[in-house]
Amino acid sequence: MKTYQIAVIPGDGIGPEVMREAVKVLNAVSALDGGFNFEFTEYPWGCEYYLKTGEMMPEDGLERLKGSDAILLGAVGYPGVPDHISLRGLLLKLRRGFDQYVNLRPVKLLEGAPCPLKDVKPGEIDMVFVRENSEGEYSGQGAWLYPDSPQEVVIQDAVFSRKGCERVIRYAYELARREGKTLTSIIKANALNYSMVFWDQVFEEVGREYPDVETQSLLVDAAAMFMIKNPKRFQVVVTSNLFGDILTDLGAAISGGMGLAAGANLDPERRYPSMFEPIHGSAPKHAGKGDANPLASIWAAGQLLDHLGYPDWYGKIVDTVERMLKEKQGLTKDLGGSASTSECGDVFVKLLG
Ligand code: NAI
Ligand code: MG
Repeated sequence: MKTYQIAVIPGDGIGPEVMREAVKVLNAVSALDGGFNFEFTEYPWGCEYYLKTGEMMPEDGLERLKGSDAILLGAVGYPGVPDHISLRGLLLKLRRGFDQYVNLRPVKLLEGAPCPLKDVKPGEIDMVFVRENSEGEYSGQGAWLYPDSPQEVVIQDAVFSRKGCERVIRYAYELARREGKTLTSIIKANALNYSMVFWDQVFEEVGREYPDVETQSLLVDAAAMFMIKNPKRFQVVVTSNLFGDILTDLGAAISGGMGLAAGANLDPERRYPSMFEPIHGSAPKHAGKGDANPLASIWAAGQLLDHLGYPDWYGKIVDTVERMLKEKQGLTKDLGGSASTSECGDVFVKLLG
């Protein structure tokens, strides 16, 4: 029997509450499958840890996680610790340190999920975002000159390397080819005359190797508009770190809300562990209330199974989420139900089996 080592970083706010359900589901899957199981190691890193130690995670944190087969992350961030510290000190450190350069975020409207768009049917929103996850606008480079003076100047640099652009764009072309889907590149080359003109050029260059993949290139403002007016237009989407961050929240909003949106941070070369998380944050207002929706985390656990080589289990997990939505079973408040976080996880496990 294969045993997978899974590192769990529950994090802050609702993170630990939703992670508990994701772990519950993974245990249920291994019991049903019989061919593999999981050993979970929990790491209590996050804002509370920061307030005690001055660091979001210990210095040798990456070293300690390195041997895991995958990482499950809840959410980080809590009032009392500035968001740029919590984000950069943990989440971005992991994404960067393990070179998880693809952030894969499905945006799929399941039957029964609430959708604020008029006349859109399930199946008409079915896209997957391939977001650049290692550089771009989130490279953390810049300067703060003459602070607190009238000459104050702040510079935030964006970094677009040939290697960084090529590899994520290639990943997206491969995915589109494998699934027989169209590929949309989203940029803003009219205004960002260095970085995104370069991105565009790389998109075209790599595309010459994929003449079978139908492509379109959209400016980010137009893309935001089309995601609302004609979401059918998008299948596989590749975009920069910042644009992907923003557009996938929009994607969540049109496909059932933050409680249903999952994301995988992948090192496609498998040199390091990949990391799976809901895309929502720690929702401090919901922390401790037991009403957070764990389905995004459960969906992310499904992506973990897919990554480990069990695509059928990924399919079953998404189908079970859909069944709960259709039958209105075990849903939390954000989806119009009254189940608690743990009841939602229990119902999920019952329907899975
Ligand atoms: P958020 O995603 O935590 O919450 C926004 C709103 O979405 C919540 O007030 C709630 O109404 C709803 N929501 C989110 N997840 C939900 C769930 N599972 N069930 C039910 N409702 C849910 O975003 P916000 O409020 O902007 O950020 C809160 C903290 O989280 C900040 O410190 C921020 O930096 C951090 N954050 C962390 C992320 C991460 O760890 N990946 C991502 C985004 C934000
Ligand atoms: Mg985000």
